[in-house]
Amino acid sequence: MSKISKIGVLTSGGDAPGMNPCIRAVVRTALYNGLEVVGIKQGYKGMIENDMYPMQARSVSNILNLGGTILKTARCLPFRTDEGQEAAYQNIKAQGIDGLVVIGGDGTFTGALRFSQKYPDIAVIGIPGTIDNDLYGSTYTLGFDTATNTVIEAIDKIRDTADSHDRLFFVEVMGRDSGAIALRAGISCGAEAILLPEKSTAIDELIRHLKAGESKKKSSSIVIVAEGDKSGGIYDLAKAVQKEVTNYDIKVAVLGHLQRGGAPSSFDRVLGSRMGYAAVNALIAGESQKMVGLEANHIKLTPLSEALSHHDFKLEADLLQMVEVLSI
Ligand code: F6P
Repeated sequence: MSKISKIGVLTSGGDAPGMNPCIRAVVRTALYNGLEVVGIKQGYKGMIENDMYPMQARSVSNILNLGGTILKTARCLPFRTDEGQEAAYQNIKAQGIDGLVVIGGDGTFTGALRFSQKYPDIAVIGIPGTIDNDLYGSTYTLGFDTATNTVIEAIDKIRDTADSHDRLFFVEVMGRDSGAIALRAGISCGAEAILLPEKSTAIDELIRHLKAGESKKKSSSIVIVAEGDKSGGIYDLAKAVQKEVTNYDIKVAVLGHLQRGGAPSSFDRVLGSRMGYAAVNALIAGESQKMVGLEANHIKLTPLSEALSHHDFKLEADLLQMVEVLSI
């Protein structure tokens, strides 16, 4: 692989708090090493539509504390086609970009891997930026910590009113395919039950468990339901449970996209900085088709193909078991 001289950076897929500190680190690490940097707007869409601009050290001033992404983001369907990838490649070549840093989740990496396999003269390094914490090769993804803290803050407030009224709340959190936020938030907020996409829910068992809570004189209860849970949607679920669990008035709260916003936590600012810095150093070292991850507090590189193929990525079994014990 020839020496890198110009890097393009983009954010793609769902935004995540920590993306801005990460962009800042990419830009400044590249400039520090004498490379040029180009910001690509709206992920792969900007590559296809040639929406890019040169970035300087001051382009990323005062963004450490900002949620969202200054580069904007999109889920880009045309990049899945050969024509879309070819148009993106022509624009990247015309800009003189020879290395890409792509910040996003598994959809972003699928596109990146295909692109770099077709056009191996463009080196690509991925950074796991998603609140879902569902990528093999990194214990934490960027944005997960902040999003979980946002959820905890919201559920603590729900708990106050639930307790005042002796109510049972079903709270939906994000995670189409991942129960990571639900599990962490459930432990942190003392949830009575946590419903996850990774685990099927026996409604009868849930009802039995909630009735047992009634008889143990619990004044309020919280059930956390991850968006991707397969038991038929939070409203129908709450209705079905209300028929059987009659001592509590049941309410539903859907937290939605507020979970993706807000200032990044200290953890995500440091993680974003570390990952951005490591991604540029990896490109300089001649690496490509790899993802930067954090394992045992050390940065490590995992082939994108491996990060994507481990769909059996599991939630920690000990945490799942612990929830049952701690909610007696
Ligand atoms: O991938 C992150 C995520 O927030 C998922 O948890 C959620 O299911 C999805 O994005 C929502 O995506 P959109 O903002 O496109 O509706």
